Amino acid sequence: MRIIFTEDYQQMSKKAADIVVSQIILKPDSVLGLATGSTPLGMYKQIVNTYKEGHIDFNEVTTFNLDEYYGLDKTNNQSYYYYMLENFFKNININMERVNIPNGTADDIEKECLDYERKIRNCGGIDLQVLGIGRNGHIGFNEPDLKFEALTHIVELDQQTIKDNSRFFDTIEDVPTKAISMGIKTIMRARKIVLLASGEEKADAIHGAIYGKITPELPASVLQLHPDVVFIVDKEAGSRL
Ligand code: GLP
Repeated sequence: MRIIFTEDYQQMSKKAADIVVSQIILKPDSVLGLATGSTPLGMYKQIVNTYKEGHIDFNEVTTFNLDEYYGLDKTNNQSYYYYMLENFFKNININMERVNIPNGTADDIEKECLDYERKIRNCGGIDLQVLGIGRNGHIGFNEPDLKFEALTHIVELDQQTIKDNSRFFDTIEDVPTKAISMGIKTIMRARKIVLLASGEEKADAIHGAIYGKITPELPASVLQLHPDVVFIVDKEAGSRL
């Protein structure tokens, strides 16, 4: 495991963007695992800037997002599909047929989850997975639990997560209570993982993930077992290390 300490959010975003950009330069047909939330917004901005300068081409890149809210349609401005389109995809030359985000309104959710896993496998697996982290140590929407959930599945969101994410919704009642998320095994199969964290409210989760015992009660702690993972933290998120 590698830890990169950065001064602030800006520098954290730049470091993460550099890793994604070099991945695409080295392997133009890379399969990227992508994350949402407020943390990677700066990273997406930086990658878009590099794209606009003409240094990278997304034409052959395939993407898989970590998760999506259950019950939110693509067109809902709180869906992760909408987030990805607005903050990233509409600003680069990605082929939208190579973009994969779980369908939160699929009729048969079980089938949606199985199909998602199959698609990842058929693309040869994820080369680089970007992660954020929840205050409770969740990755994707893998909430603290008694066991590590293996593959893409439907999850019941934690009260803490609903509360944390309510800042993006009009009222807390509007926050979906369920989501579809890649499982821990899906994430751990990625060849390389980069996790970003910014702000003091992430300091405990980051400390636990890196130095704590490996437990599904702090899902990110499983990353200690991954052979190629880098944590990029700003001063506040890294303050307990
Ligand atoms: C959300 C997402 C996660 C994200 C996390 C942190 O619930 N499902 O993928 O990493 O919460 O979000 P933020 O970056 O806004 O703190």
